[in-house]
Amino acid sequence: MSNTPSTPTPSSEAPAATPYGTLPPASPLAQRKPVSLPRLADMHARGEKIAMLTAYDATFAAMADAAGIDCLLVGDSLGMVCQGLNSTVGVSLEAMRYHTDSVSRGLRRVQGTTWLIADLPFGSYQESREQALRSATVLMQAGAHMVKLEGGGWTTETVRFLVERGIPVCAHLGLTPQTVHALGGYRVQGKGDSAGALLKQQAHALQDAGAAMLVLEMVPAALAAELTTELKHCATIGIGAGKGTAGQVLVLHDMLGINLGKMPKFVRNFMADAPGVLPALQAYVQAVKNSSFPDDRLHAW
Ligand code: KIV
Repeated sequence: MSNTPSTPTPSSEAPAATPYGTLPPASPLAQRKPVSLPRLADMHARGEKIAMLTAYDATFAAMADAAGIDCLLVGDSLGMVCQGLNSTVGVSLEAMRYHTDSVSRGLRRVQGTTWLIADLPFGSYQESREQALRSATVLMQAGAHMVKLEGGGWTTETVRFLVERGIPVCAHLGLTPQTVHALGGYRVQGKGDSAGALLKQQAHALQDAGAAMLVLEMVPAALAAELTTELKHCATIGIGAGKGTAGQVLVLHDMLGINLGKMPKFVRNFMADAPGVLPALQAYVQAVKNSSFPDDRLHAW
């Protein structure tokens, strides 16, 4: 018998590294139960803060999942972040489908457990409830678990139509970037008694129509906190809305300090004190969960 060591069989070899961002076979959090609507409702009821970030590609999606993020949003902010547009107005449904598919694939590759939301872009839901259903179908078939749409009032019936047809919906009030031209810029919304009352009324109507989540962007912290207490079946997710909301969302590139312009007041750069991207994402999740982010004195109005 020869003493020559046998060549290892392929099955005993470590998987070969592939170039361009190798994904692990499984997320470190693969054991976590998948985040679902009932789990989100339970977190909301128990007062556990919901940590959300945007994601636009497979690698960052897998990293955010590994960091323990609850929800990822394929935001139409990809128009600015990935496509170099001046606003979200130019983002197409096909672009949203492409990025939703990429993020969803990244999560599937690592058996990710994160809840995935995708934005209905400008012009893909305003025409009719049927148009909204067709557009939402494209994003759900690309892997989204929920769609988000902007605005209150006329959107209420669209939300009801989608929810009745089995599509979970996240609404979005306050600064709604798709209507930035009508709003006159990226400004705080809901200031003053009548604007605040209108925003509250629209939020209640959206909850009654079945919206399970509501992004509140750039609204006074006191208003967002009051609404959060009032809405029992719709979890508020703040961005520039203070610490009183049920959860928080930030644009991924902003919170990683990947921004050459002026950082919005409501952003904290989690890379500033972190040795890498994964620890920065973990620090964000922890800061949202323990309510140390946002700090109303720094990040709110
Ligand atoms: O498009 C987006 O990224 C968003 C978040 C800012 C909430 O809507």
